Amino acid sequence: MANYDLIVIGAGPGGYVAAIRAAQLGLKTACVESRETLGGTCLNVGCIPSKALLHASELYEEAHSGVLAKFGVNCKGVSLDLDQMQAEKVKAVGELTGGIEFLFKKNKVEWLKGQAAFASANSVEVAGKTYTADKIMIATGSSVTPLPGVVVDQKVIVDSTGALALPKVPKHMVVIGGGVIGLELGSVWRRLGAEVTVVEYLDQILPGMDAEVRKEAAKIFKKQGFTIRTGTKVTGAAVKGSKATLTVEPAAGGVSETIEADCVLVSIGRRPNTDGLSLDKAGVTLNARGQIEVGHDFQTNVPGIYAVGDVTPGPMLAHKAEDEGIAAAEFCAGLTGIVNHDVIPGVVYTMPEIADVGLTEEEAKAKGLDIKVGKFPMMANSRAKTNRDTDGFVKVIADAKTDRVLGVHIIASLAGTMIAEAALAMEFGATSEDIAYTCHAHPTHAEALKEAAMAVTGKPIHM
Ligand code: FAD
Ligand code: NAI
Repeated sequence: MANYDLIVIGAGPGGYVAAIRAAQLGLKTACVESRETLGGTCLNVGCIPSKALLHASELYEEAHSGVLAKFGVNCKGVSLDLDQMQAEKVKAVGELTGGIEFLFKKNKVEWLKGQAAFASANSVEVAGKTYTADKIMIATGSSVTPLPGVVVDQKVIVDSTGALALPKVPKHMVVIGGGVIGLELGSVWRRLGAEVTVVEYLDQILPGMDAEVRKEAAKIFKKQGFTIRTGTKVTGAAVKGSKATLTVEPAAGGVSETIEADCVLVSIGRRPNTDGLSLDKAGVTLNARGQIEVGHDFQTNVPGIYAVGDVTPGPMLAHKAEDEGIAAAEFCAGLTGIVNHDVIPGVVYTMPEIADVGLTEEEAKAKGLDIKVGKFPMMANSRAKTNRDTDGFVKVIADAKTDRVLGVHIIASLAGTMIAEAALAMEFGATSEDIAYTCHAHPTHAEALKEAAMAVTGKPIHM
């Protein structure tokens, strides 16, 4: 007799959600987690603490920089209490991770505390004990990709976890990698007073996003005070006391120079967590990128062993992991689960936010699709004008023949909220005309999406 119907390894958004759904569907379920608290990267050292600091630092900047004074809200003697800001972040994280523990108890998911390793294709070892299960799901997530020559000490050279817990505001922070983490956490410390330099290997920041969005984002970030050095690679770092000296050179090679910093954030991507799992004992194989490949039913090359989230191919996003967790649990229970991987929104929580779903213009053209593009600037949106947050635009890409929406790209203060409508529209196979003829409340930022959809046929009203 197996101990469990399902053992899930990892309690991040992929694993904890899968475990809860499996238990809801009547499976006797355990979830193995080696951290002190549940919730994985996202709740402990990712999505939640970063958003807590992004929110708090935005409030500070608004009060400190005179933005509030512009609206007649005078704040005299504004000062930063970083310890309090960090304490409020810790509180939010604690409430949310504690919430998962409550949900485990409520749904009778057993938490096996410790590091799991496969003993065979249907058993795992945790803290010296062996547990068997009919099905096992790998949801072990990802960790920071190291940069050779730049050793993270979590004091002067930090990764995202260190950058979320700095005890004081650095004078000069150098961010290696102009991706999502670099720009979000760079924004936090810039708002709190640091001078921030972003060193990006490629010739533009935010790889994978629509080219116009990348260009506009770089313009806005530079206006905010970021120094952005694209086409540049870091070749080494030396730490002396509380300072680091980075050696950089053009990505294509050339004359090297040095940059001094009191904090260096390494954010060049993340890689799947598979070390120490003894996958060989179960027969699970990895692809060339170290990821676990799965079929449409989330089974690996070994029947009965499933995988979801960051450890599998695709965007490393919490909501992608969650949706996969639910679908995989449904397959484990004999049902059919569905995730539409063509409609996974992405959001960068800077100010303004940057959000997208579906194909970029470049991807659509590379696929040989005939497309129409509609764009609408936030400058012409009445609510954005009223709120004085007019940076950015909405861009809708539709199929030229069918008018079906293929992609939506937004830079706007509320882009992360606005993109949900675009994702829903695409999930239902909407045309740009469908969005254009949907009544949108006035005055809202969301009207910019309606106008961008109208612009696909060249007929926006307010432009
Ligand atoms: P994880 O959340 O990484 O969870 C895996 C868990 O498995 C971990 O808790 C780990 O301890 C455990 N584990 C691993 N191996 C074992 C083992 N052998 N035995 C037992 N336990 C094990 N995504 C978003 O969508 N929105 C955001 O705003 C966002 N912000 C982020 C900010 C930062 C700074 C970072 C680093 C990431 C952010 N992400 C964000 C990405 C998001 O955190 C991940 O995509 C998501 O957590 C992946 O979920 P997962 O369940 O696959 O893995
Ligand atoms: P990323 O892939 O977003 O960006 C890494 C950047 O580093 C890229 O621009 C890349 O070109 C650059 N780079 C790579 N090697 C380099 C080098 N040697 N020198 C200089 N630049 C180099 O990865 P990031 O920011 O580390 O984030 C990891 C993952 O976490 C992402 O996949 C993202 O999905 C997820 N995440 C999501 C968030 C969100 O949804 N808001 C927030 C934070 C992270």
